[in-house]
Amino acid sequence: MCAGNTTSMHEKHQGVAVDAPLYPDRVLLLTELSMTTREQFACVCEHDADHVTDETSAVAALEQAISARDEFLSIASHELKTPVTTLRLQVQSLLRTATRDPRAILAERQIMNRLESIERSAEQLTTLIDRLLDITRVTTGRLHLTREPLDLVAIVRRVIDGMEATLRDAGCEVSVASPEHVVGEWDDDRIETIITNLLANAVKYGARRPIEVQIDDGDDTVSMDVIDHGIGISQDDQARIFGRFERAVPERHYGGFGVGLWLSQQIVEAHGGTIAVHSTPGEGSTFTVTLPKRTP
Ligand SMILES: Nc1ncnc2c1ncn2[C@@H]1O[C@H](COP(=O)(O)OP(=O)(O)O)[C@@H](O)[C@H]1O
Ligand SMILES: [Mg+2]
Repeated sequence: MCAGNTTSMHEKHQGVAVDAPLYPDRVLLLTELSMTTREQFACVCEHDADHVTDETSAVAALEQAISARDEFLSIASHELKTPVTTLRLQVQSLLRTATRDPRAILAERQIMNRLESIERSAEQLTTLIDRLLDITRVTTGRLHLTREPLDLVAIVRRVIDGMEATLRDAGCEVSVASPEHVVGEWDDDRIETIITNLLANAVKYGARRPIEVQIDDGDDTVSMDVIDHGIGISQDDQARIFGRFERAVPERHYGGFGVGLWLSQQIVEAHGGTIAVHSTPGEGSTFTVTLPKRTP
């Protein structure tokens, strides 16, 4: 019964996937998203095996997946372009100066400023690409944790140091209230991703007000709160923002993929932990991550 549907759906799915070679820079995203479509198709097909009449809803589900993919691609391209544009402007400016007078030596401070800006843009790009890779790994079930003894407080401080320029530009201050060390067995890069996502959100949606990170060390678990005093999130939106591509703000005001919280939740759950939000619109948000200190 499903076979008849399979052919037409499969053709439709293939029709989506063949776009990939036209946009080599988007192949990664298409791989991830066509996987979603494929999974969705498999589920829909299995679920509808005995209900041919449900074909319409299966088609609607596929169309929704395709539309989510298209929206994601356009946001992803936009996000990736921002640091590349800054990077190119700085490099072009350095090249212009060097071409005008090859022997001219730019003031040391001027060179340093531009190199720092190039470095920042390259760092942003690396973070974005790493995140896209992780999204693909989660979606295709290939996210394997590498656990090792780590100090959560040290990771938080490392992330804050790495975000120094962003925090300065946003006029945000971050304070950390924690014991000196909180040690557990976690995946270093992935824990860094969670903290980066939560802090980046606190900066983006935090209305330039101070941000606090609080870490509580328990016997078997550790809990970390990232607190901001920004725009907050309505009760209805709180229920959906951990979903993939779910956003509760207009794109023209705040850029973003809508995957940071989704990815963070996937990573937290892979560690056997939980992530939750408490928020009042207009007053701010608190995101709480709880992690077991050892493999559950
Ligand atoms: N600290 C916060 N304050 C207010 N809203 C937030 C906060 N963090 C996340 N959100 C809301 O949750 C949505 C999903 O967040 P996220 O997955 O990080 O995606 P993105 O930041 O790319 O939009 C955001 O679009 C925003 O509406
Ligand atoms: Mg975000």
